[in-house]
Amino acid sequence: PDDLRELSRTLRVHIGSAVDATALAGEADYRRVLNQEFNHVTAENAMKWETVEPQRGAYDWEAADAVVENARRNRQQVRGHTLVWHNQLPAWLIEGVDSGAIDAKELRKILRGHIMTEVGRYRGKIRAWDVVNEVVDDTGKLRDSIWLKHLGPGYIADAFRWAHQADPRAKLYINDYNLEWDAKKIETTLGIVKDLKAKRVPIHGIGFQGHLGIQYDYPGDFAGVMRRFTDLGLEAAITEADVRMVMPATAEKLATQADYYQRMLSTCVANKRCVEFTVWGFTDRHSWVPDWFEGEGAANIMDENLAPKPAYDALLAVR
Ligand code: XIL
Repeated sequence: PDDLRELSRTLRVHIGSAVDATALAGEADYRRVLNQEFNHVTAENAMKWETVEPQRGAYDWEAADAVVENARRNRQQVRGHTLVWHNQLPAWLIEGVDSGAIDAKELRKILRGHIMTEVGRYRGKIRAWDVVNEVVDDTGKLRDSIWLKHLGPGYIADAFRWAHQADPRAKLYINDYNLEWDAKKIETTLGIVKDLKAKRVPIHGIGFQGHLGIQYDYPGDFAGVMRRFTDLGLEAAITEADVRMVMPATAEKLATQADYYQRMLSTCVANKRCVEFTVWGFTDRHSWVPDWFEGEGAANIMDENLAPKPAYDALLAVR
């Protein structure tokens, strides 16, 4: 294959990227490479609650619409990201809850409205939604978010039911980080999925974010973990792949990075139910890593000038 779109066709796995809506609007070279290489996209921030509803009841769909419209024009499928999360919530919501101005009953109504409005707006245009994101914490407990605190654990089932009502054909996912290897998180998440299935809640997919770093061993059990979830009848996706490193980058580090990317994509390809491999940005020009992990960077498959790195070639070599 000459590029990732061709690779996607031969592997029969969607290959996607997160999209930086500002770069999409303002950088022609970024736009060109995105649309040349990828047949699936996820809005990096444009569909998050703080972006779409910065003031209560005042929606701003500009960036989200731009990502969806660019996808339509370029025959890219879309992952909606994300409906229920503890981060990037609008200030009015957090302050309202903290001050007591929004009580539990109203909060549940607000969450339902948010899900129905956003999923409904893009009905038929989103292949898969990350309905709940990062709901298990690093100790393996349900995360102590405003959702759990005020609505109780039933908010998870509610969110899936509401999303399904608003777009019955969208695949509905639970998505998390470290799920490639964190035993506590894996067991708890398997428990959540089994419980939802037992209650006939519409859940269809498991999302592995795939944020790795080369200073850690590659998660060697990832294929087995994915299998445990797909054996429950779920489809799987690697939803936010990137492989960071302690800076500066060296040829050796870039080779290790290439190997990690190749192994992640191979893990998806080896599982019949794994349908999507999405990178969390394709270029080191626009990456969350330097802002979130001090001293780390160079996590993507192309450099700042959009030149392919060894990781790009390693993906193209996957059979
Ligand atoms: C990140 C974005 O990449 C950043 O631009 C933003 O400042 C913070 O969020 N897990 C997720 C993503 O599910 O939404 C996060 O994206 C990265 C971690």
